[in-house]
Amino acid sequence: MKTQVLKPNEHSLKLAGELIRSGELVGIPTETVYGLAANALDGEAVMKIFKAKGRPSDNPLIVHICDLSQVDYLVKEFSPKAKLLADKFWPGAITIIMPCSENVPSQVTAGLDTVAIRFPSNKTAQAIIKSAGLPLAAPSANLSGSPSPTNAAHVYNDMKGRIPLIIDGGESKVGLESTVISMAGDVPVLLRPGGITVSEIESVIGKIVVDNGVTHMLADDAVVSSPGMKYKHYAPKAEIIIVKADSESYAEYVNKRYEAEGAGALCYSEDTEKLKAPYICLGEKEDYSSQAHNLFSSLRKLDDMNLKKVYAHCPGTDGVGLAVYNRLIRSAGFEVIELA
Ligand code: TXA
Ligand code: MG
Repeated sequence: MKTQVLKPNEHSLKLAGELIRSGELVGIPTETVYGLAANALDGEAVMKIFKAKGRPSDNPLIVHICDLSQVDYLVKEFSPKAKLLADKFWPGAITIIMPCSENVPSQVTAGLDTVAIRFPSNKTAQAIIKSAGLPLAAPSANLSGSPSPTNAAHVYNDMKGRIPLIIDGGESKVGLESTVISMAGDVPVLLRPGGITVSEIESVIGKIVVDNGVTHMLADDAVVSSPGMKYKHYAPKAEIIIVKADSESYAEYVNKRYEAEGAGALCYSEDTEKLKAPYICLGEKEDYSSQAHNLFSSLRKLDDMNLKKVYAHCPGTDGVGLAVYNRLIRSAGFEVIELA
């Protein structure tokens, strides 16, 4: 299959809508990361997503909408608290899990009785959903296990020959996937941190629970609230090891590992002038938005540097830092070294 990459315009948006309505997959830009979209109401079309990504079929998908009026058809109940979140943060980088209606195919929910819904703020994403005239099931448009794509070239790299069309809407603004919160039970539970932070959410609906899987490795037999949590994610070819330390000790440690084994660094601006090892810089230590924006493309760049080991300077875990930390510990397979 030939994969076309087109800029958004009247022709390409119309084509995207037609392809989706006829059961095909389209790579779409969103403000978080690029998505791999299919008609969410067509189980067979949705199956193609799992095949193209090599995604385990027990990992459910997010349904993308372009108007609040689409929610009722998809859910059993749009609770007052879930509505508060939707009113405050949609369109935007938050996915809300709710009890699902019988209109959602089991391929989307992976057989769960809940559905994840997001209304993206990216105008091109909205235009594609409108053009299709349907809600779209879309995971991140990477091969399963690879870093999520934050531009059309990343999507092309992973999906060429597998899908007919990618719409190139430029760089994703946020750079990390949406915050995922479950509003399906008695207490709201944060399942995946993202650009919308815990304190922003709590300022709207009060105290929430942060699932243990957000910051900890789960046992092989653990019961997970979100199937995506149990898979190793975002792994570049190099082995990533997180180092908790101040800038001096971090640089000294990495320089030694560089001399001993040719290791590289994933670091912050303040570290760079102390480093002898080859490095990629994520931005200023306190600038979590830049780190979020740069993380996935940096993991892909590390692949091009042919490093066997990369020591990543541990990010902060407050605000958007929690999302950066959550993705980084997964790419490191939870390997953390703490320097006293
Ligand atoms: O920003 C995003 O959320 C991007 C863009 C394309 O919208 N999408 C994305 O999708 O990151 P994906 O499939 O890579 O991640 C969805 C996560 C997975 O960890 C999945 O397990 C979880 O959401 N999820 C989906 N439906 C769920 C449900 N009903 N219950 C619990 N977790 C669910
Ligand atoms: Mg993903």
